[in-house]
Parts: sequence; structure tokens; C-alpha cells
Amino acid sequence: MRAVVHDRYGAPHVLRVEEVERPVPQADEVLVRVRAATVSRTDCGFRSGVPFAMRLFTGLGGPKRRILGSDWAGEVEACGAAVTEFAGGDHVFGTRGFGGHAEFICVRESGRTAHMPTGATFEEAAAVCDGGLKALAALRRADLREGQRIVVYGASGAIGTAAVQLAKHFGADVTAVCDTRNLELARALGADAVVDYLQDDFTKNGETYDVVFDAVGKHSFRRCRGSLARRGTYVATDGLENLALGVWTACVGEKRVLFAMASATKSDVLFLKELIEKGKYRAVVDRSYPLEAVVEATRYVETGEKTGNVVLSLAGDRAG
Ligand SMILES: NC(=O)c1ccc[n+]([C@@H]2O[C@H](COP(=O)([O-])OP(=O)(O)OC[C@H]3O[C@@H](n4cnc5c(N)ncnc54)[C@H](OP(=O)(O)O)[C@@H]3O)[C@@H](O)[C@H]2O)c1
Repeated sequence: MRAVVHDRYGAPHVLRVEEVERPVPQADEVLVRVRAATVSRTDCGFRSGVPFAMRLFTGLGGPKRRILGSDWAGEVEACGAAVTEFAGGDHVFGTRGFGGHAEFICVRESGRTAHMPTGATFEEAAAVCDGGLKALAALRRADLREGQRIVVYGASGAIGTAAVQLAKHFGADVTAVCDTRNLELARALGADAVVDYLQDDFTKNGETYDVVFDAVGKHSFRRCRGSLARRGTYVATDGLENLALGVWTACVGEKRVLFAMASATKSDVLFLKELIEKGKYRAVVDRSYPLEAVVEATRYVETGEKTGNVVLSLAGDRAG
């Protein structure tokens, strides 16, 4: 089968498409013919090996996993003997950390895999998990409740577009901060108020918020502290200093810093699927590229300017 592989850390050009062995499912696994997979910021971190601490997980001497691709959607090609939930031909989606940038991937039946939401395309389904699961983990960590006020800073990214919709679903009053070209999108996703960061600074509008969710790693606790209500929470997705601030603010003062670690279960994937089917959530897809254009797709993701998600599409490709 064709797969995108890399044998060393580095810039996007270390990625190349190669013929590799097709994986064989274990008894509790499903072999999926991948139709679409995202190129995410996580993939970019794994590929570049930056920050260096990431290599503790991905391999100190070089990448332990040759094939990236955390989030994917496709068709069940074959099932292991013990699999009962899925059958050949089922349309499925999910997340597994690695292996999605290939024509086939093996995933555990009990893993973060589910039937695709009714009516979703492969590209839309592939784009559900990256931002959706990270935003869900962050909002739960912040204990966002009905009636609370939240700012989603960087509301146009994969995590940000998901956070706006999920915060609305949890009953919060949502202020979305993004640039001029994405204001309409933020409103369409359900934001109650929008702030164009190119024109205005939300920290100077005199308002206070229960939660400031920095969904793109471009703000800081120091800068938005004055905008946090009493016992307010700043939630970060990036910046190792926020780990230390998390420990410090747990002991000192009444405003907290939380670092949102990616953590998700199969039930979280099912939760997002149900929200999509109820019309309360959608994955935003910016651009789609063929598998062979993975370097170009990755360069675009690394501009930091994508809106929502970028997808590699294998739908029209030969698979074998
Ligand atoms: N904690 C974790 O587990 C984890 C895992 C993966 C990634 N991350 C981190 O999470 C962050 C978000 O990832 P993502 O994939 O959602 O990001 P993304 O999709 O790459 O975010 C890009 C968006 O951010 C907007 N943006 C850029 N600069 C901005 C600024 N100064 N203010 C407001 N918006 C700005 C861009 O729009 P404009 O350029 O048009 O403004 C673009 O729409 C990244 O920092 C990533 O490293 C965390």
C-alpha cells in the first residue's frame, strides 16, 4: 500500500510517499481503508521533533513510527475474529496517534473508533477528532458550566472552531476572537460575540470572563489576567511555561492556569458523533490535498493560518 513515511525529524520535505507492507488486523482489530486523514499540528510536532521533549514519546534517536496521521476516516476492509461492533464496508472514523497517512490502518475495536456520523463525508469525518477532542478535554478541564462567559482566543483554528461550538453546547456565553476574514465563520459556529484581534484587544474592553481559552497558543495568562472574573481560569493549549503556572496558580491567588492535555476515550468520539447528528457540531475543513501533496499540505498547516482543518483525501485514489 502507499503511505507517507519519514525516517528522520525535520522540515516537511522529510515526508515521502512509499510502498509499504499493508497491516494485518489482530483478533480485536479492524483494518480500515483510509479515505481521508487530517494533517494536524500534532503531526507537525511529531515530524519536526520540536519541542525536543516530544522525542521522549516519539523516539530520541529518530522517529519510532514512520507513518504519521492521527485522525482518519474510511471503510472497514476486514475485521479480526473477535470484532463484533464493525463489519466489512462500514464507514468509520477515529483517532489513533499514528498511521492514518496511508491507504490502510489497523485500529482496535475498543479504541477511539466509531461509525461515521450519518450524512458526513469522509473528509468531514476525518476532521472531527483533532480539534473536537482537544477542545472537549480543555472545556471539561475548565469545568465550563451553563451561563458562564468564555473567550475562545484563536477561534478559527482546529481547536478554536470546535471550542466555540462545544462551549455553546455547554450553555456558555461565547466570545470568539479571530481575524477579520473569519468573523462570519465564528458567528455561524454560534459565537454570541466576536472580536477582530486585528482591530480590537478583548483585554481592554472592560469585560470579564469566567474562562479564557487560548486555543492557538498566542495569548498569555499575564496579558489576560485582568479580564478573568474572580476564580476565573486561563486554559492553554501550548507553552511549557503554562505547566509551571498551573502549579503556581493552584497554590497562590484565586485565578487559575490550566494546561489542556490531549486525552480522549471512545465515548468522547461517540459524543462528538451524536452532536454532529443532532446538527450541533461540525468539523470545519479548510483545504483538501491528495496524498502525494502531503509536503505542500504540511507546509500550509505550518503557516499557522489554516481555518479549521486540512485533510489528505484518498477517496478517488487507487488502493491496493
Ligand atoms: N495541548 C495539546 O494536546 C495540543 C495538541 C496539538 C496542538 N496543540 C497546540 O494547539 C494550538 C492550536 O492548534 P490548532 O491546530 O487548533 O491551530 P491552527 O488550526 O493551526 O490555528 C490556526 C488559526 O489560528 C489563527 N491565528 C493565528 N495567529 C493568531 C493570533 N495571534 N490570534 C488569534 N488567532 C490567530 C489563524 O487565523 P489568522 O492567521 O487568520 O488569524 C488560524 O485560523 C497550537 O498552538 C498547537 O501547537 C496542542
